[in-house]
Amino acid sequence: MSKKAWGGRFEEKPEAWVDAFNASIHFDQTLIDEDVQGSIAHATMLAHQHILTEAESALIIETLQAIQHDFHEGKIEFQAALEDIHLNVEHELIKRIGPVGGKLHTGRSRNDQVATDMHLYTKKEVQTIIEYLHTFQQTLLQLAEQHVETIMPGYTHLQRAQPISFAHHIMTYFWMLERDQTRFKEALARIDVSPLGAAALSGTTYPIDRHETQTLLGFNALYENSIDAVSDRDYIVETLNNINLTMIHLSRFAEEIIFWSSEEAKFITLSDGFSTGSSIMPQKKNPDMAELIRGKVGRTTGHLVSLLMTLKGLPLAYNKDMQEDKEGLFDAIETVKGSLRIFDGMVATMTVNTDRLQETVRQDFSNATELADYLVTKGIPFREAHEIVGKLVLWAIQHEMYLLDVPLAVYQDHHAQIEADIYQYLQPDEAVKRRQSYGATGQDAVRHQIKVAKTHLAQHHTNA
Ligand code: ARG
Repeated sequence: MSKKAWGGRFEEKPEAWVDAFNASIHFDQTLIDEDVQGSIAHATMLAHQHILTEAESALIIETLQAIQHDFHEGKIEFQAALEDIHLNVEHELIKRIGPVGGKLHTGRSRNDQVATDMHLYTKKEVQTIIEYLHTFQQTLLQLAEQHVETIMPGYTHLQRAQPISFAHHIMTYFWMLERDQTRFKEALARIDVSPLGAAALSGTTYPIDRHETQTLLGFNALYENSIDAVSDRDYIVETLNNINLTMIHLSRFAEEIIFWSSEEAKFITLSDGFSTGSSIMPQKKNPDMAELIRGKVGRTTGHLVSLLMTLKGLPLAYNKDMQEDKEGLFDAIETVKGSLRIFDGMVATMTVNTDRLQETVRQDFSNATELADYLVTKGIPFREAHEIVGKLVLWAIQHEMYLLDVPLAVYQDHHAQIEADIYQYLQPDEAVKRRQSYGATGQDAVRHQIKVAKTHLAQHHTNA
């Protein structure tokens, strides 16, 4: 078993099963690239500050690169007895180059090291999530462009409410994801900050240059307070929160996909590539991907709540509890990335059953508001019109008809000013067309909305 990096003041070693409980190497090896990157920046700065010689620094850097390479080739087995990624890499370094490897940790602690790794990792992954959001938004925009004229029932309380453009419904998700993008980008201001050089908590007596490591690592800012640098996990909470909002948006959309693909609705048909079958019922095609995404929000929410509880009441500065910040974040990141990619593929390959949507919207009372609006055009106050239409709807229900089938004589019985043009007025696509208020579902308003959305998409890369 390897000697502990901190073994000096100990007379005994923990047993292997105690080491296993303490260790984080089985999950924090995810951070190897960031760990090596942070160490290289540190070693570079140590040489510039004459804390290490150029030769020592160069040897350390090239060996770190070799270790990173060998790890990715599967040539290195890390050990639980060496606890975490930081001590495993350092152990391997010393094994390869001898005592000079032990100079790397000068003016540094695992506390600022792990914080540096996590900031680098979170920044990289958040940028990837932003890319995935962008890709999915493009898909949604394309779908919307094809379906400005497709009319579908709009719902409130999952009851047919008013006819809407399918594009308008889809664009709702575009804007939700647009807010998600913005939220992730805004959080970068707090993620993109260098804790390196804070050491254990109080800074260091060596003449280090934190500004140099900040620049070398590409961080936008520097923690002003060394205790804050090693204690702060807010950016992880914030990232988990942002991931959760995206997951909740996806889960709402997933619920609609599941409903839309049901036999009852048949609004869309999912592609075979994004559906699964049943082991007993041969006819079945299940929306498993959408259901899984809806289900995974439970996990990601758990990770957020778990970290909040871990941090609650923690005194400054580093506490081992903080090791618990990793698995949840790693899992939430993989989950949201996977969900975004799957959703994108599922939406890009689904078929929108426009005829079915068109037919559906004619078999309901979702044009009842139109009838009321028609009466308003005749000078009748809206409240009165509402009452008249309510009675007409009741009459139609009792006679098993929809409003387009009600005879003119019956209309005129309810109000003398209703004329034959009512049938045109009640057509669902006419109803949609009339809604031209800003941001409304009218086809022209939706075309304008799509234009605005495109300018937002185009701006993503310029202000990233
Ligand atoms: N594995 C630890 C973590 O993930 C690294 C920091 C440990 N620092 C310490 N002083 N024990 O939080």
